[in-house]
Amino acid sequence: MNLQPLSLSLHQNIVFLTGAGVSAASGLPTFRGENGLWNDAEFMRASDAANLPESLPMVWKVFGGLRALAETIKPNAAHFAIAEVQKRHADKNITLITQNVDGLHQAAGSENVIELHGSVLRSRCTNSHCTSQPFADLTPHTEVPFCNLCKAPLRPDIVLFNEMLPPLESHLAKGALRDVDLFIAVGTSGVVAPAAQFVSSAAYAGARTILVNLEAMQPRNAYFQEEILGRAEEVLPVLLAI
Ligand code: OAD
Repeated sequence: MNLQPLSLSLHQNIVFLTGAGVSAASGLPTFRGENGLWNDAEFMRASDAANLPESLPMVWKVFGGLRALAETIKPNAAHFAIAEVQKRHADKNITLITQNVDGLHQAAGSENVIELHGSVLRSRCTNSHCTSQPFADLTPHTEVPFCNLCKAPLRPDIVLFNEMLPPLESHLAKGALRDVDLFIAVGTSGVVAPAAQFVSSAAYAGARTILVNLEAMQPRNAYFQEEILGRAEEVLPVLLAI
């Protein structure tokens, strides 16, 4: 691979945006593409909030399965490269925003990960009046579990289609994009808003913008100044000189 490491000394405010492609080498399927999760009709229905609350048993069947899988897999070189660059350049503002719900960035050692789409490793109550908070839950429930406090059904703490992003994560991501000077998106098809629009915010902030992905973005997104085609787990260690 004829790839030069980035001169990180030129940058102070760096934002990584990651997607499912980053976890592919760990054994998690991506959403789109040949073996993508969206080719599974049950997964598709379970992922749409418009089907709640009737779909809760299916939500747990599907995402309980994903939780069980996420518990058994390990981070790969892409996750470790990002975690290491955060550690080595602690003097810089390095923000990691992920669309992934698998907890693998944290497992690799990244801290303060902005989980834009939540985490399959947490559950929360479906009752908006309940005072309980989302909590770590590694049980791969296959049936709907219930809240200890109010007895309403629980759900995985993830963002489904037709749902808003969590407000804090959304706020933190927007804040980081305001004065970013290097934006690197990795392993994402770039079709799901609002994350798909982060690159335009970064470009307007004056950042250098780079996409690292297995395949070219379709349609092309002109806000990316550079596109590096390859596997995240091979490209990132070279690009970040890890
Ligand atoms: P996608 O499945 O849409 O895209 C994954 C991208 O990763 C594809 O463009 C692949 O070519 C690329 N890819 C696969 N293996 C790779 C590798 N080893 N290295 C680099 N790239 C690789 O996943 P996302 O863009 O993350 O939302 O999808 C965004 C959101 O859509 C997800 O968070 C999910 C889904 O609906 C929710 O669940 C709310």
